[in-house]
Amino acid sequence: MRVNGVHYRTVWMEGGAVKLIDQRLLPFTFAISTCRTHEETAAAIRDMVVRGAGAIGAAAGFAMAQAALRAAEPSWSADLSRGADMVRATRPTAQNLFYAVDRVLRAASTDAPVEDRRRRAIAAAQAIADEDASAGQRIGELGQALIPPKASVLTHCNAGWLAFADWGSALAPIYRAHRDGKQVHVWATETRPRGQGAKLTAWELIQEGVPCTVIPDTAVGHLMRQQRPDLVIVGADRIAANGDVANKIGTYTLAVLAKTHGVPFYVAAPTTTIDRSCPSGAAIPIEERSGDEVVWAAGRLDNGNAGRVRVIAEGPAVRNWAFDVTPAALITAIVTEQGQVPATSNAIHHLLCETAGTTATPAA
Ligand code: MRU
Repeated sequence: MRVNGVHYRTVWMEGGAVKLIDQRLLPFTFAISTCRTHEETAAAIRDMVVRGAGAIGAAAGFAMAQAALRAAEPSWSADLSRGADMVRATRPTAQNLFYAVDRVLRAASTDAPVEDRRRRAIAAAQAIADEDASAGQRIGELGQALIPPKASVLTHCNAGWLAFADWGSALAPIYRAHRDGKQVHVWATETRPRGQGAKLTAWELIQEGVPCTVIPDTAVGHLMRQQRPDLVIVGADRIAANGDVANKIGTYTLAVLAKTHGVPFYVAAPTTTIDRSCPSGAAIPIEERSGDEVVWAAGRLDNGNAGRVRVIAEGPAVRNWAFDVTPAALITAIVTEQGQVPATSNAIHHLLCETAGTTATPAA
């Protein structure tokens, strides 16, 4: 990603510290946050300094590397597993977080001398971030074929560079198509309550020079009838073995509307978002966040300072589910770095077997 002409990743490690683009401040302020310990990195994930499945995964991997830098014998295993528990407890839905914690734990669990184990943990964390960035780039190359030369594309929330180490998932094909000379216009939903579409997707698209229009979430039905986008493309936080997809709250509504209006509905995600142990969307843990995010709207005040205003009076109860599940039957295809597959158990099973380089046995 390029911000004001400078190449960045969303999250990276530098001399034992984890550096993050502070996404809470965008689009008004671009600042880098520094986490010196795994406790600080875990807090940054929980508080959404960093957010988006791939970026959370990369941050979680680096947090585990930080835990390994501090761990020492004779309590090495206990230190690492306490660190893992802390990172796992930050946010429950994005599969990439759990994938990253487990992978760094495995890398650091050997009989090698402690210094080697630390090196292995750091190398594993770096590989997770690097692979996330290259998966996004590959999703862009493969997914751009879905985008016509003059395209109107609807997306939801933010599944761009900010949601990954680099490139993104849903926005990667758009970036590739735009760089290849296609004329792409993006409809970006606002994504209440935290506004990832309005604040992050629109900002990213502007940085990339891609024309976009922000719409309230409530305008999607009208848009489908009046403007009929060529396709919808969204990201994913967890994909179940049967192809059901958990993504930002409101995605299911988009999928139902897309089906009604005959608009293809694509999900773009790296294979690290697939949870083969999760049989269907019903088993995906759905995060529920504080109702304050609904009651208060955060942004820039008239005086130029950051601030928040209350938008709901005292009294009503509030629910704030962060994700919903879109059933596989509503999904046209899932685009991964390994190729595009239908959202079915068999296709996902074969994809994962190919990714692991093993021979597939058809799923029951
Ligand atoms: O709560 P967030 O911002 O971490 O939510 C994750 C998301 O940004 C979306 O659900 C996104 O579409 C998929 S993550 C690449």
